Amino acid sequence: MSYLGFVKTLCEGYLAGFPEPRVLEIGVHRGQTALPLIHNLSLFSKFTYVGLDILPCKLVIEQVSQYANVSLLGLDERTGRDVILQHVNSLDWLEASKKSGQGRFDLVLVDGDHNYKTVTKELELIQAVIHPMSIIVCDDYNGQWAETDLYYSDRDEYKDNEKATKKEESDKQGVKTAVHDFLEENKTWSSETWGNLDPVILYRNDVWEKFELTTEESPDVLSSTRQRHRSNRQPIVERDVKLTAHLRSMYLKSQ
Ligand SMILES: C[S@@+](CC[C@H](N)C(=O)[O-])C[C@H]1O[C@@H](n2cnc3c(N)ncnc32)[C@H](O)[C@@H]1O
Repeated sequence: MSYLGFVKTLCEGYLAGFPEPRVLEIGVHRGQTALPLIHNLSLFSKFTYVGLDILPCKLVIEQVSQYANVSLLGLDERTGRDVILQHVNSLDWLEASKKSGQGRFDLVLVDGDHNYKTVTKELELIQAVIHPMSIIVCDDYNGQWAETDLYYSDRDEYKDNEKATKKEESDKQGVKTAVHDFLEENKTWSSETWGNLDPVILYRNDVWEKFELTTEESPDVLSSTRQRHRSNRQPIVERDVKLTAHLRSMYLKSQ
């Protein structure tokens, strides 16, 4: 899956509050999220996007290398408008980042291996690369892999991929189960979803007073188009979902 439909929402409703946003995406694939996200980030004077994948992100590299005023690590000098694509397993990268203390991402998108053990470990390790205001968005929370494990190493095209995590049998399975256990063990974290759409947003409830997804009133022309799509049973792009986030007053002062 991808976070398509949420990229605009997250950028306008959340990242806009940061002067120089820093985003980490776990699982880049063909850049369905990365490309619109990097475009939106490039509207800020400075930004950092770090994307991790166990496959080399050739398509994304080809595309991003053509973006004006965006530096692609490996091809360009760093300018503070940086895209960094790493061919690496998320757990190795997060372990290394924890030790080096680098990071402090405002937004972390979790969409790599969709199994209980990986997502559980990622949620634990991510704590070392974020700050109290940061949010984590996990894809496939409501999808096919909500309560069933997917290991990419089981897929034919990953058979010889040494970076892919080997499958481990586990009683508990799936992204949703991992997120629920994380929330159970970390009571200062809450979640927000939008209907049955795939992603879940995780945020600190001691930092954010409100973190809410709603639908904006749509102009008539949009609603009639949407109606037509619904009756044809075609998927629609939920681009009218609005994110309203309010920091608690003590955090407002520190901004
Ligand atoms: C569902 S796709 C990502 C889709 C992408 N986020 C988007 O929105 O278009 C999952 C990707 O995660 C990668 N992946 C699987 N396990 C990983 C891991 N442990 N670390 C990093 N990437 C991983 C796969 O190679 C695959 O490209």
